[in-house]
Amino acid sequence: MVKICGIGAGYVGGPTMAVIALKCPSIEVAVVDISHSRISAWNSNKLPIYEPGLEEVVNQCRGKNLLFSTDVEKHVYEADIIFVSVNTPTKVRGLGAGKAADLTYWESAARMIADVSKSNKIVIEKSTVPVRTAEAIEKILTHNTNSKDIKYQILSNPEFLSEGTAIQDLLNPDRVLIGGNQDPEGIEAIRKLKAIYAHWVPEDRIIATNLWSAELSKLADNAFLAQRISSINAMSALCEATGAEVSQVSLALGKNTKIGPKFLNASVGFGGSCFQKDILNLVYICESNGLTEVANYWKEVIKVNDYQKSRFVHRVVTSMFNTVSGKKIAILGFAFKKDTSDTRKTPAIDVCKGLLGDNAFLSIYDPRVTETQIQKDLSMDGVEWDHPIHLQPKSSSVVKQVNVVGDAYEATRDAHGLCILTEWDEFKTVDYERVYDNMEKPAFVFDGRNMLNVDKLREIGFIVYSIGRPLDQWLKNMKIVN
Ligand code: NAI
Repeated sequence: MVKICGIGAGYVGGPTMAVIALKCPSIEVAVVDISHSRISAWNSNKLPIYEPGLEEVVNQCRGKNLLFSTDVEKHVYEADIIFVSVNTPTKVRGLGAGKAADLTYWESAARMIADVSKSNKIVIEKSTVPVRTAEAIEKILTHNTNSKDIKYQILSNPEFLSEGTAIQDLLNPDRVLIGGNQDPEGIEAIRKLKAIYAHWVPEDRIIATNLWSAELSKLADNAFLAQRISSINAMSALCEATGAEVSQVSLALGKNTKIGPKFLNASVGFGGSCFQKDILNLVYICESNGLTEVANYWKEVIKVNDYQKSRFVHRVVTSMFNTVSGKKIAILGFAFKKDTSDTRKTPAIDVCKGLLGDNAFLSIYDPRVTETQIQKDLSMDGVEWDHPIHLQPKSSSVVKQVNVVGDAYEATRDAHGLCILTEWDEFKTVDYERVYDNMEKPAFVFDGRNMLNVDKLREIGFIVYSIGRPLDQWLKNMKIVN
């Protein structure tokens, strides 16, 4: 029986290994992590992450061919194939701080693999890493090995799942990318990994490349996706300035088959643990290779994203008569997108900090994010790059200014304004007449996800701001013209 060990039981390692176990009943899959709390949650009825469909997959395999353990060394020792899905955050200090990927976790995993291995291993990069990391990993493994007879093959198999749709993405991937050495041993390792995916992925979607192309493709993939969001968000600012309507512009763009409709929704900005981190990583690699213009090009994608968040805060404050001081503002949604409990780099953090910096009182509701997580995110100085967009409020005052509540009605009661910051489906079915009745007047809605029916809200009596859509002042002008 082939034995697989997945190192790192996070948003990638957990779901990916669970789907491999589901689709390959003849393979034994052990998922290991140094975090005891994460592993005990994977072994409980309350999994450590929320992802639609994940619980069902785990329940089908756990205790059969899927296990979660903190005994990292034992399972690495026993495995033939090791997937490494540890975190690779942005470095916060030292050379490349604020941009380069921090490979500390990867390096310690590689050293541990070299320490405990007594047989040949295929080591797979699942984490997103800088291009040419495999070279460094190979050095660590071969220079620390127990015996010259042990051979390591390193493959790059980047993960393309999106949080919120991870299980669907894993069950039905657009493509699986496998990069490896182009010598006979490398090609044999690629064949072995292909055979695992072939249990459920059609062969024409499994693409073999060289190592560097696979590593770089993952960074390029996230950079291109983020770039589309920043492009449409930049257009949304121009729409507001001219009376054009961003959803009509994006429909027109999306119908062009050369462009396509996906990732063209204007919003308060992108978030999540990957886009910013991976673009910064790309920027750093470009700079290290003397490619200043290329680095600057990608930097702008992040700058536009920061601008979009600041613009949103600015709009809230200026609409509410230039001050939100002492006013209650309801925040609906805190996760970086719907169907996930993940708040890493969520735009809600910057928007809330901006409003807190202007002395607003926030009443926050998110269907899946805990109060502890929200308070933690808002108390931390989370600035990692060299351009803080808002002054950070002091953490003790934050706790007093922030109230986390259990539903949208409680959040909006007596509020002057409400901001939609995550596109949770349930916000579409809120009774906005009831919300309006219980808010201070004039009552403002700031729809940071363009998900609500603006006309209906205006009929109820709200003053509405929706990203890239005509403002009330434009509508009045249009009526005069008509
Ligand atoms: P995560 O932070 O949720 O999980 C990483 C896990 O690795 C943690 O539980 C940590 O305790 C564990 N870990 C760290 N060092 C370890 C070690 N030496 N031994 C055992 N366990 C160790 O991170 P996430 O989101 O799963 O991301 C992992 C990688 O996958 C990152 O490189 C990320 O860029 C990449 N990725 C993330 C995606 C996402 O949507 N979150 C999508 C595609 C790739």
